[in-house]
Amino acid sequence: MRAIIAFLLFLFLTTTTSITATAHESSKCKAWLVQSIPTDMPQLPPVPGLLSTADVLQWLAGNSSKSLDIIAQYWQLVPSLSDPRSGDYGYSDEKLQQFGANEGLKVYKALESAANRKLPIRLLQHSGVYPDYTEEPSNLASGRPNVKNVTLLLSDWWGSGVVHAKVWISDSRDVYIGSANNDWKSLTQVKEVGIYLAGCSDIAKKVEIYYDNLWKLAHLDVSAYTRSVWDSQWQINRKVPCWSHYVNPKDRCRSPLPKCMEVAHISGYPVLSDPFMFHIPIETPGVNDSFFHPQPSYLSFAPPELLFGKYYTDEQAWVDTIKSVGNGGTVRINTMDWLGQSGYTKETVYWPSLSSAISEVVFSKSAKIQILVAKWAHFINNTDQYLKSLLYSNTLCSSSKYNHCSGKVEIKYYIVPGYNSTGPAALNGTATGNMYPGYTRVNHGKYAVSDTRAHISTSNLVWDYFYTTAGVSFGTYQPAIVSQLQEIFNADWNSPYAVPVEPMEEGHACSS
Ligand SMILES: *[C@@H]1O[C@H](CO)[C@@H](O)[C@H](O)[C@H]1NC(C)=O
Ligand SMILES: *[C@@H]1O[C@H](CO)[C@@H](O)[C@H](O)[C@H]1NC(C)=O
Ligand SMILES: *[C@@H]1O[C@H](CO)[C@@H](O)[C@H](O)[C@H]1NC(C)=O
Ligand SMILES: *[C@@H]1O[C@H](CO)[C@@H](O)[C@H](O)[C@H]1NC(C)=O
Ligand SMILES: *[C@@H]1O[C@H](CO)[C@@H](O)[C@H](O)[C@H]1NC(C)=O
Ligand SMILES: *[C@@H]1O[C@H](CO)[C@@H](O)[C@H](O)[C@H]1NC(C)=O
Repeated sequence: MRAIIAFLLFLFLTTTTSITATAHESSKCKAWLVQSIPTDMPQLPPVPGLLSTADVLQWLAGNSSKSLDIIAQYWQLVPSLSDPRSGDYGYSDEKLQQFGANEGLKVYKALESAANRKLPIRLLQHSGVYPDYTEEPSNLASGRPNVKNVTLLLSDWWGSGVVHAKVWISDSRDVYIGSANNDWKSLTQVKEVGIYLAGCSDIAKKVEIYYDNLWKLAHLDVSAYTRSVWDSQWQINRKVPCWSHYVNPKDRCRSPLPKCMEVAHISGYPVLSDPFMFHIPIETPGVNDSFFHPQPSYLSFAPPELLFGKYYTDEQAWVDTIKSVGNGGTVRINTMDWLGQSGYTKETVYWPSLSSAISEVVFSKSAKIQILVAKWAHFINNTDQYLKSLLYSNTLCSSSKYNHCSGKVEIKYYIVPGYNSTGPAALNGTATGNMYPGYTRVNHGKYAVSDTRAHISTSNLVWDYFYTTAGVSFGTYQPAIVSQLQEIFNADWNSPYAVPVEPMEEGHACSS
């Protein structure tokens, strides 16, 4: 008996060491920043060394040999020309070619061929977005036992919210995390930023834990696992999973998710003083890194009930990126939406987390903060008030002769040309005059970069994305990635597509 155990142990040790040895030789972890640039933006200077989202998604599908796991909000890789409810309706084939729709078709074909070669594929998405945004995963799964599809409605668990992460994981080794939806328009008509990590199994396997947790949620009995609670951190009543830290400890259930975060805490999620950092060297073939030193990297996740181990909440990772700025340094933030409140809850939450972190470093570190916010067809109306309120930090900074405050907030709207002429080309047989399909011509990237740290996310900057919505970010102190992400931002910030947000007029602030 003992001999058998010893032999098995020997076998186990030899196989694991040989696997690790080959893994280390054959797959050094490499990272590239990934972009989509809308057509017809001739005045945007190119940033060298970036990959295109369309290529990366095709490669992830094309190179997978063991598994492919995708998290999507919705699907429309193939344009929907004949459905009058679609924003693609009424455009000619020639127009679609000009829009670059073929790239989406190529990604779909790459997925279809992966499905046909019997690759185990899992597709997890939100649902209910018209007209047929779960049709593609259903078609891929139909008649193919190797393809599993599932729809997860986070509103069943958190009262509101969606699956909003955009993540592809191939062979538990290569990963895309970023702003691009599984939509042809996200490849050539929407401006996107993401990161492609290749040969990075340590990181990919952690993203996969999050994936498995979402998958598990989709198969649990919601009513048995949710509670309505008074959330004392955000001062609202809301629905949460029963293992949430917003549930009173004596009423809290044991999490059905393996490796869920267990921290003794009364209410809300604690700030981690020592979040987990990967200490693995990351090569950056897309950018010259002449001072290569391995630097820490991290993952962060939302909502907090889906955390595990010592990984960051996504909110803390954004806040810590802002606070990572050095004295007199610059933080650059790019987002589609910006609101200092919730947008989709029954009771409205006031949410100062990011604006407070910004004002703090403006005051204490004389930091410069530059923020790009998208102005587009589906712009949230009260964004401007929140931006002006943030700009008021500049007035407060210089409000006393005793202040030693020389920081500054600068904000610009990013306007993709054609943004005010989007939608179907025809309605009820009548031409609309729209020049681009619906939900296009927008700067959709979500990232922050200080002088030391880069944070690449899938979340918009509104409360809901951090507390009720599924999101994933990757961040790193790798200087080559930090500087290349700064270059992407600067190209946008200095382009004619960015226009300054004007501060509140003095005297008008308190009247009316
Ligand atoms: C696999 O990925 C590489 C880049 O890493 C790419 O050049 C190649 O075309 C991909 N193969 C397939 C079949 O997609
Ligand atoms: C998954 O795909 C099947 C087709 O095989 C479809 O009938 C089903 O509705 C899909 N399920 C979800 C949850 O999207
Ligand atoms: C990388 O940078 C170093 C130092 O600035 C320079 O000597 C080298 O030529 C650069 N290499 C490339 C490929 O640009
Ligand atoms: C936002 O403003 C537009 C234009 O003024 C208006 O048509 C729309 O109803 C407003 N939306 C909301 C949600 O207030
Ligand atoms: C869209 O905006 C541009 C620039 O502000 C303006 O010249 C044009 O008339 C607008 N088009 C429509 C359809 O509103
Ligand atoms: C288009 O036609 C449908 C029914 O034929 C009607 O309900 C709808 O209001 C029409 N839409 C517009 C914008 O005229």
